[in-house]
Amino acid sequence: MRPDPETRRREEALRRALDLTPDRWAPVRHRAREVFDGLDVRGRRVLDVGAGIGTYALYLTRVLGAREVVALEPSAGVGGHDDITDRMRRRLAAIDDHRVTLVEQTFQRYTPDAPFDAVVLLNSINHLHETRAALPDDPAATAAFRAVFARLRDGLLPGGALLINELDRRCLERYTSRVGLPRLFTRGIAYDLHQAPGTWADLAREAGFGDMHIRGVTPRRLARLPRAIGRHRLIAFATNAMFVLRATRR
Ligand SMILES: C[S@@+](CC[C@H](N)C(=O)[O-])C[C@H]1O[C@@H](n2cnc3c(N)ncnc32)[C@H](O)[C@@H]1O
Repeated sequence: MRPDPETRRREEALRRALDLTPDRWAPVRHRAREVFDGLDVRGRRVLDVGAGIGTYALYLTRVLGAREVVALEPSAGVGGHDDITDRMRRRLAAIDDHRVTLVEQTFQRYTPDAPFDAVVLLNSINHLHETRAALPDDPAATAAFRAVFARLRDGLLPGGALLINELDRRCLERYTSRVGLPRLFTRGIAYDLHQAPGTWADLAREAGFGDMHIRGVTPRRLARLPRAIGRHRLIAFATNAMFVLRATRR
């Protein structure tokens, strides 16, 4: 998938602003193109939950034209990273993009001034209440995530978009690695800290989301595959286990 020349120009400008080498930028760009494809944020307000060091929040403003992104990232120490918010703060200061605002807060404690047009959670939903169990088997975690989805709904305007990018706990390498085969696409992933996409879809539906779509994320090594094949869920199962769930607040 090759975007139009203006988008590519903006991507290149962001790469330079972030001072990333083309090699380090390529996987970020591939993921952003794949994950955000079809999400129209031009002129919109977006909440990025668990924004990390802010790379994708900046992509949303500087490449995709979002008017404002609240980058929600809890303060030091969550998930074993102790300098995430400092790194984001330094980045935002260097890049001077006033459209991205860091809010150092957990999603559970954050109260927005006004509902958003879109909420994105990139590799963060499972961290909001970590469990190794498949959700229906952990009633406390299920209750915690019901509350999370109710907050996601309340944080969006009617018709607003929810986008979740996550890993599926069920994937081929989870099973093949048990018999000693190497992990080519999912190295380092703790499968059981993730859920199946259908689990998130059920929670979203229960909270009042509709228009649900789940698709895979083409692995970068297979980027030349036609989109319909690269994003097929069977390809995701056989490779990187990544999916995107899109839903709309009713
Ligand atoms: C795996 S990182 C993903 C970072 C970024 N979104 C990305 O895709 O590169 C997960 C992020 O979620 C954040 N996080 C953990 N618990 C959170 C919570 N309760 N509320 C908001 N963010 C949280 C972590 O601090 C971490 O930065």
